[in-house]
Amino acid sequence: MLAPPPEPLLTLDQRIAEIVRYYRRRVSLDALGSSLALLRNEPPPEVDRLLIGLEPAWSDHAVASVYAALMGKSRRKALGAYFTPPALVDYLLKRAQQFGVDFASGRVRDPAAGGAAFIVPIARQMVRLWRAEGLDDVSIVNRLAERLTGREIDGGLATLANALLRRCLIEEYRLDPALAGSLNVISEADTLAVDYDEGADHEIGNPPFLRLAAREEPPNVERFEDISSGRLNLYSVFVRRGLASLPPGGVLAYIVPASFIGGPEFKRFRSRIRELAEVLAVDLIEGRSSVFMDVVQDTCVLVLRKRGAEVAELIEAEANSNSVSGDGTVHASGKVALPRGDGPWILPGVPRDLPSNLAEWGYAARIGYLVANRQADRLHKRRAAGRVPLVWAKAIGQDGTFDFERGKMFRKFSWVDVPPDAAYIARTACVAVQRTSARGQKRRIAAAEIPTSFFDQNGGVVAENHVILLLPTRPDAARPAALAEALNLPQVGEQLDRMCGSASIPARLLEKLPLPAVPMK
Ligand SMILES: C[S@@+](CC[C@H](N)C(=O)[O-])C[C@H]1O[C@@H](n2cnc3c(N)ncnc32)[C@H](O)[C@@H]1O
Repeated sequence: MLAPPPEPLLTLDQRIAEIVRYYRRRVSLDALGSSLALLRNEPPPEVDRLLIGLEPAWSDHAVASVYAALMGKSRRKALGAYFTPPALVDYLLKRAQQFGVDFASGRVRDPAAGGAAFIVPIARQMVRLWRAEGLDDVSIVNRLAERLTGREIDGGLATLANALLRRCLIEEYRLDPALAGSLNVISEADTLAVDYDEGADHEIGNPPFLRLAAREEPPNVERFEDISSGRLNLYSVFVRRGLASLPPGGVLAYIVPASFIGGPEFKRFRSRIRELAEVLAVDLIEGRSSVFMDVVQDTCVLVLRKRGAEVAELIEAEANSNSVSGDGTVHASGKVALPRGDGPWILPGVPRDLPSNLAEWGYAARIGYLVANRQADRLHKRRAAGRVPLVWAKAIGQDGTFDFERGKMFRKFSWVDVPPDAAYIARTACVAVQRTSARGQKRRIAAAEIPTSFFDQNGGVVAENHVILLLPTRPDAARPAALAEALNLPQVGEQLDRMCGSASIPARLLEKLPLPAVPMK
């Protein structure tokens, strides 16, 4: 029978996406059976053409992605089973080597091995280096068993990961199948069930990301008390545990969400990991929605080296910081500044006098709910029961004042009918920001406090769609007047210009905007 033609027009990512799409239409298929069939080179004819000519790392990624596609959405989410594409794996391994990981002599563990995205490429490097030393195959297998460890909570994935490793050794390095078959590098186990591990010099991987509710916390959660400033996230727990398990000098190189860099929930995490380890690199991965299948998340490569002894006082320091795309290309290199205490880490290109962000100030951005021309029947000229003031952009002055009457002058209809319990009514003092900045406007950002007295008089407000409201998210949020003042600073406006060329200000971007340090209350 003639082999089907290969797929020259699709990129590697597109081929994987096509393969996954095929299986997503057949969700009743068994995840392990289907992925093992691919691994044995017995794909369905529709998938065959997509696999032709794939390099081994991409073929492994396809096999693991099929398992993920068939394992069920809710289980996948609960386990954080989102697999690292080969180009990023290569990048992370190179970065680890730059900082001293030596695959010829070091012992390496992946505590959340998934479909062996890291274990197999690390094994490749080890085998190559040991063969160059003249080691025979039996010694190579013995060394792999001693020096390479993986752990995976999902039994099917652990089986698949071991099968992928064996395939690599047999097909790429011509090891005797019986010899390779004796290897069981990835064990099925819950990494967090054990307080810490011994037996590895370095940890490499991509731990699961998930914000944990109290009932989902790992056993002996007290272990993680020193990194907790609220709810824990699985990835921070893996980092903490990894550091507890490594010997001094050991390198931890993980892909993790970038949320810890500035998030207030990660204050203690940030300072604790610096006490325990030297931060060697924080490399931002570009493309929040295109790198991991089904995940929209800003991620980074974090490389730490465990200290010989904890430091008691954190001084200002720097770490390397690349900006890297999902295909492993480095687009820019700089330094991330690590402050003295537990404040946000400052990424390259961000001025040092703007070390904070909206979340640190205790606020979140919400775009004005009401689109006036679509809901004209709800708008009125006068106050009455069941109505609250509508905040027009014109009410926010370039001088940083809030003037409801000014908004009313331009737009006569400034009262809006609302059901009393509507979630979109703001009920506490907050900050209103003009969502678009007209050409020639003196300030890039026009922000004003809507004071408590206004809420006392009117009960609440609704913002029109050309306004963004910055609402406090916690009782200890900074004062809204101070936030409005900070947003109106020219240097903050300049940062917005750097980040956003358009006249309209995206709410998400406001959340990322560098701000001055949070003032003391
Ligand atoms: C983000 S994936 C990464 C997998 C793989 N290292 C990669 O980069 O493609 C995280 C993996 O950790 C596994 N996992 C989640 N919780 C775990 C735990 N407590 N112990 C061990 N593995 C766990 C998940 O099943 C999933 O396969």
